[in-house]
Amino acid sequence: MEVKTSAPGKLMFFGEHAVVYGIPCISFAVNQRLYCKIKERKDKKILLNFPDLGIKNYEFNGKTENKKIGFVSSAINNILEGVKEKRGFDLETKSEMKIGIGTSSASVVATIIALDKFFSLDLKKEDIFNIGYKSVLDVQGTGSGYDVATSVYGGMIKYIKGEKPIEIKYPENLCLVVGHTGVKADTKKIVEQVGEKRKDYPHFFDDIFGLTKRCIEEVEKGLRESDLRKLADMMNFTHGILNGMGVSHPKLEELIFASKNAGALGAKLSGAGGGDCMIALVTEESKDKVISAIREHRGIPFEVRIKNGAKVENEITDF
Ligand code: PMV
Repeated sequence: MEVKTSAPGKLMFFGEHAVVYGIPCISFAVNQRLYCKIKERKDKKILLNFPDLGIKNYEFNGKTENKKIGFVSSAINNILEGVKEKRGFDLETKSEMKIGIGTSSASVVATIIALDKFFSLDLKKEDIFNIGYKSVLDVQGTGSGYDVATSVYGGMIKYIKGEKPIEIKYPENLCLVVGHTGVKADTKKIVEQVGEKRKDYPHFFDDIFGLTKRCIEEVEKGLRESDLRKLADMMNFTHGILNGMGVSHPKLEELIFASKNAGALGAKLSGAGGGDCMIALVTEESKDKVISAIREHRGIPFEVRIKNGAKVENEITDF
């Protein structure tokens, strides 16, 4: 028996950091996926193959010190906990994501969906999310789970920590360009730093997160009414707030300014900050200019499309 699955990467659109404290965020699944293949073995062994990471036939026995495979291992452990029957398999993943925009959560989700089929568990999306979120928390200890939710449900979603997301409709002409700074951010560390600052200024942060919540309401309105100007304004406002919280980075600022100078309607950092990537709202006319501007400033640009969530992919032949 062989099962193939895929799960998309994700991007935070609005609400990073605030989502950790119960404020809704808006995120979407992107057109870059991670694939997982599981093939039954005659023996009871579980062998892991991650060619992208240079890992071949790694024998899985429940525990691992190998950080690179921590997320997939955690997902396997959490699934096997609920499975009585012992069956061996080879598991392999392959990623289309050149830059990490949710590789960890996508690998967890693609693995869970593959094991769900392999063991005929008949899990619901909620179960897949819950197991996926637990698997991520087991490894990294913190996180709102928005990445797992986005990868499971796909499209654009409104997500409140731990809850079932709500699908959000977005304008057909929503055109987004991402600029990666080339600086790898340490999400866990930045989330902790925000937590420390919040302890020093609790009322201040209540106001900041209250403002973020109002911003999300405006964004929902902007998306409903295809009001790109409103969306752009909200991107600029929220980026200002995030910068004020101390989570921006000189390279993010450079790419955001360069994008706006090249004609982007609005731009903001996306995710934890401290590096990683920014996202710009563009039009078909300004798109190429923004992409060139990001490249001129030594960022790594790419256009993103919003895509569907994780699924079984048995028809794929080249993997
Ligand atoms: O840097 P990313 O893409 O993993 O996003 C982090 C988003 C935070 O809100 C800062 C943390 C979280 O888990 O939601």
